Amino acid sequence: MNKDTYCPMPFVTLAVNPNNWLTRCMMSNHNMGTIENTSWSNDKFTALRTDMLNGVWDEEGCKSCWFKETNGQKSRRNRWIDSELKYMGAENVYAQNLSIRRNTIKHLYMNFNNICNFKCRMCGPHYSNAWLPDWKKMQAWDLSESSDKSYTKRLHNASNKHLQVKQQIDVDKFLHEFGPELSELHGIWVTGGEPFMDDSVFDFFNKLKQYCDPQQLKVLITTNASKLDVHKLEQLRGFKRLQIHVSIDATGDLYKYMRGYNYTWEQVDDKIKQLHQHQKQYNFKLSLNGTYQLHNMLNLEQFYNWCLQYVDLEYIEMRVLSGPKWLQARHATQIIKQQAQQQLERLLARYPQHQYFDDIAVELAANQDLRYQKKFVTWNKKLDEIRGETYDYNW
Ligand SMILES: C[S@@+](CC[C@H](N)C(=O)[O-])C[C@H]1O[C@@H](n2cnc3c(N)ncnc32)[C@H](O)[C@@H]1O
Ligand code: SF4
Repeated sequence: MNKDTYCPMPFVTLAVNPNNWLTRCMMSNHNMGTIENTSWSNDKFTALRTDMLNGVWDEEGCKSCWFKETNGQKSRRNRWIDSELKYMGAENVYAQNLSIRRNTIKHLYMNFNNICNFKCRMCGPHYSNAWLPDWKKMQAWDLSESSDKSYTKRLHNASNKHLQVKQQIDVDKFLHEFGPELSELHGIWVTGGEPFMDDSVFDFFNKLKQYCDPQQLKVLITTNASKLDVHKLEQLRGFKRLQIHVSIDATGDLYKYMRGYNYTWEQVDDKIKQLHQHQKQYNFKLSLNGTYQLHNMLNLEQFYNWCLQYVDLEYIEMRVLSGPKWLQARHATQIIKQQAQQQLERLLARYPQHQYFDDIAVELAANQDLRYQKKFVTWNKKLDEIRGETYDYNW
């Protein structure tokens, strides 16, 4: 096995996309085959696994990890490799599952739907159907601004190819094809779209019980929590572990501007209070996350201070955004980067071991590109105009 290119995901995890196809992992939208039992051993998967074992990176197909690693940041691939026991529940699982054709499915990544009631600024229509109308307007504007219209048009056509208004995993079809192979499952990560838009997640877990033992399963659900009725979590009791991972990104008015638009800071704060209070009763763990980017880089201290009222440090995730490029914190002005650096240093003095601060430091040290800085300003201004929103960053 070549440690520089091997990734456990395509070997021991199954990733399901709402377009009803399989992907290599949760970081990729590339279609690796339809949801059929034989697809997991098809030519695309065997070629990918062979390349990974032989030291060949698929830079395009694995671009999220490739980008992070070439930037000196920690990729999802690195995290999986470093924490086999945590993610697989045992050691030597990776070494025993190196077949290029078929291995034991230990982990499931269910990207449930693209249906969402939010349209967060760094997200897009692949994950949120609510984004689609604004996306079309932004693309028309982008095309009119572009100096090379044929190139921009080609890019837009390619990224639009699979956009449909609403998409959702066909749970019955999925379980029919893969259910009998799930008896050794150790973990499931659920995301979307918004997984709690309706009751399909509860329905899925109910049906899954026929195929595996819930007491062996660690479940993590990433959600905006706006539609989550906390008392319904009663139905998800009985797993080895259940983690409700709520995406917050920023505190106060910036929350509403970045992600809430139809959900206020007071509402989300209240929901987090409820979740915090019911953890013992419904046997789950609350965790909180954000994506570090131009919008929220000066909110970092406030974000951590607010989170720490509800969860311990190890239940806070602050990943660094890698795309779209015009939202990367590295492109901020020097003055803003300096202020962000000061905040980071104060946080580092308080929590020197926190695993996400190294990547933030690398992001702040990276060179800015003035073209993306300009695009951040113009893109955001246009989106504000379309949405009738503004936010005073006080920069
Ligand atoms: C696509 S959302 C789906 C789940 C749910 N709707 C939520 O927001 O938590 C999954 C996670 O991706 C994050 N996310 C959205 N856009 C992103 C981007 N451009 N880069 C990195 N993470 C992003 C969200 O903040 C969220 O934590
Ligand atoms: S709540 Fe999640 S899926 Fe919906 S727009 Fe925001 S990040 Fe995207």
